Amino acid sequence: MKALITGGTGFVGSNIVEVFAHGHGADVLVPTHSFTPVDADYRHEPCDLTDAGAVAAMVQRFRPDVIVHTAILNDFARIYREREVSWNSYVGATRCLVEAANSVDAKMIFVSTDWVFDGTQSGAVETTPPNPVNLYGVMKMAGELVVSEGAADGAVARISGVNGIHRARPSVPRAQDRGFGYFVASIVDSLRAGTPFRVWESDDINMIATPSLATESAEMMWRIADLDRTGTFHCCGRDSVSRRGLALATCDAFGLDPDQLAFGPPDPDDAPGVPIPYDTSLDATATAAALDYELPSLSALLAKFRLEYER
Ligand SMILES: NC(=O)c1ccc[n+]([C@@H]2O[C@H](COP(=O)([O-])OP(=O)(O)OC[C@H]3O[C@@H](n4cnc5c(N)ncnc54)[C@H](OP(=O)(O)O)[C@@H]3O)[C@@H](O)[C@H]2O)c1
Repeated sequence: MKALITGGTGFVGSNIVEVFAHGHGADVLVPTHSFTPVDADYRHEPCDLTDAGAVAAMVQRFRPDVIVHTAILNDFARIYREREVSWNSYVGATRCLVEAANSVDAKMIFVSTDWVFDGTQSGAVETTPPNPVNLYGVMKMAGELVVSEGAADGAVARISGVNGIHRARPSVPRAQDRGFGYFVASIVDSLRAGTPFRVWESDDINMIATPSLATESAEMMWRIADLDRTGTFHCCGRDSVSRRGLALATCDAFGLDPDQLAFGPPDPDDAPGVPIPYDTSLDATATAAALDYELPSLSALLAKFRLEYER
């Protein structure tokens, strides 16, 4: 299979490259942007995804069987400051990729998020109507629509609270934020360094979610491509959990001392000043059935992450 993986030098995308290229032997091309990988054993070439002509030319040259689109302008403050640039980067780039995918009969998989939901839609299923509460969620929902309405062979793969190794840039700093991404790694990094960790708890942050492991989500995306599925999928773990529950489960899975955890609100100076969904838990039962995939329990997911982390 020939796979074009956008954002393949990013956190999630680098795990998709790992699973597609190394796990399944796909011929992978990654369009690069500001970062160029060193010693990569997959194809890569510079391409700004907001340049429609460059995207069309790259896709015509490579003629992928599948495009997995993860790339985003990942700067929460900047998307509010530079709205046109951001809209073009999220929605415009997705439209270019959909048109390019259609032109070569490729499947288009759009990687989306649990933040398309409003934080009250606990246990949202694949068909629950989204109701995003911030600009990031709005632009991701718009991307979902571009794919579901415009792609001749399209799929939306929502992921949530992603944990894992950044395989392209392992030294990227990992810190707790108002979502669940990097939460487990930031606890492990901190406690292993002997530094106590304060788990944020507050009504105005993401307090409940369904954690994913990036390699597991990537494996589910592989199945979407390989089994030739279309529609919306929840490519996450089986279990939903609070921040406190995930912190305690992390200590258990990694053999860390839970007494080194404290609990309290985030630093007010860090507040994003925009709404953050509170409970973004997802139900992935239908996805598991469609992909014939056993969703990992939280403890299985953390055990697998420990293996990846220590390898
Ligand atoms: N992380 C999570 O917990 C989480 C949760 C839910 C959903 N998601 C979704 O997962 C996807 C990936 O997120 P991530 O955390 O992996 O982000 P990330 O690490 O910041 O990666 C973003 C990637 O996009 C590339 N990119 C940005 N603008 C580009 C452009 N104009 N042209 C080409 N490439 C461009 C970046 O390249 P450069 O760095 O070289 O600019 C980078 O490789 C996103 O779609 C996000 O919505 C993530």
